[in-house]
Amino acid sequence: MSEKQHEIRLTVNGTDHDVAVPARRLLSDALRHDLGLTGTHVGCEHGVCGACTVLVDGQPMRSCLMFAVTAAGHDITTVEGLARPDGELGPVQQAFRECHGLQCGFCTPGFLTTITAGIAENPEPTEDEARDMIAGNLCRCTGYQNIVKAVCRAAELARDDRTPEGGAA
Ligand code: FES
Ligand code: FES
Repeated sequence: MSEKQHEIRLTVNGTDHDVAVPARRLLSDALRHDLGLTGTHVGCEHGVCGACTVLVDGQPMRSCLMFAVTAAGHDITTVEGLARPDGELGPVQQAFRECHGLQCGFCTPGFLTTITAGIAENPEPTEDEARDMIAGNLCRCTGYQNIVKAVCRAAELARDDRTPEGGAA
């Protein structure tokens, strides 16, 4: 017997997508397979590695632990939505580039989304706070030092974005 499909609307990076999914389709699978947004990576598939992290109403969520039907009606942001409207790198992406915060890049989408939410909540993190911010994300390659630097640099770039040119912070 074929599985019952549920018609849902997923709002991802500001665009509505109408899809039909089984009740148990993971959000990570819906993003990658139904919507073709393969920037969200899947590592462990059980909530440990953080590679699949997306923002749901601005909060970091592991998309491998959430059903797509649960995400309907919420604003989802994936790594594809972190660039600036003109296509230039967003502050967290730019910081990763400047600070060499990635090697193979598999973990990177999850770090970028996590840090985007983290610096929105704490716009001036100390190095210790930066480490706490990324404590739930695993990276096999970098040793984390440059990612911590990238958190602080991303916060600085985001603050510059919010400061009107020539004005005070
Ligand atoms: S794939 Fe979701 S936390 Fe690892
Ligand atoms: S850059 Fe390779 S896993 Fe993080």
